[in-house]
Amino acid sequence: MYYFYYIKYSGEFMIISFLNQKGGTAKSTLARAVAVEFAKNKWQVQIADMDLTQQTAFKWSIRRAEAGIEPAIDVVVYKDPQTALKAEALNDLLIVDGKAFADSHVIDIAKASDLIVLPVGISTDDLQPTLNLAMELVSKGIKRKSIYFVVCKVLKNGEKEAMTTRSSIEDFNFEVAQGWINMQTAYSQAMDTGRSLTETRYKDLNQTTDKIIEQIFNKANSVMNNGE
Ligand SMILES: Nc1ncnc2c1ncn2[C@@H]1O[C@H](COP(=O)(O)OP(=O)(O)O)[C@@H](O)[C@H]1O
Ligand SMILES: [Mg+2]
Repeated sequence: MYYFYYIKYSGEFMIISFLNQKGGTAKSTLARAVAVEFAKNKWQVQIADMDLTQQTAFKWSIRRAEAGIEPAIDVVVYKDPQTALKAEALNDLLIVDGKAFADSHVIDIAKASDLIVLPVGISTDDLQPTLNLAMELVSKGIKRKSIYFVVCKVLKNGEKEAMTTRSSIEDFNFEVAQGWINMQTAYSQAMDTGRSLTETRYKDLNQTTDKIIEQIFNKANSVMNNGE
């Protein structure tokens, strides 16, 4: 179920990475949803799962394959960014699903990425370290414009907090996607069965995620085409 068509410019590779030093902020979750939507639109996509211990995206791809869900998503587990980044040449889009801890891997991945997506929750515990990471990336020479926040895992009745989180991010001069992704049992059930946040049984939930992914796509394109 999707409502937009991603234009692929021939010969262009794209690397979108999902990073955060915090665990559990929805890196693997968003990475999987973006992979599915691009793959549906005929992009050759690979997820580079950098989390050797958890292998969240890789294990999900096996559940997906076992359930026979199309499109199949190619996920490869890598232990270092250098090897992962080589896969760029074989794909239209390489999605890097980062692991926790802002070690040197994160900087290497960020430097190679066209777009760095930072999924963030609405609590100060989540927001503070994520803003710190964003500022650290900028201090290491990453372009501010290539960093994009997405507010995720918003609990029931958390609209006000989600809005406040979005404004705090903007106060720090970072760009944040409009809207947010709610915490929903239907989302986690979808992932448990090899589906993504755009493949639940509920049209409105799928649509909410689609809108976020569309913004990620537009942002990645604008960074690539305007050299911003
Ligand atoms: N919108 C959501 N609704 C319900 N569960 C979610 C949602 N987003 C993430 N989760 C769950 O939260 C946990 C952490 O998400 P994950 O994407 O694995 O985080 P990370 O990769 O950043 O460590 C997982 O169990 C995942 O299924
Ligand atoms: Mg993960």
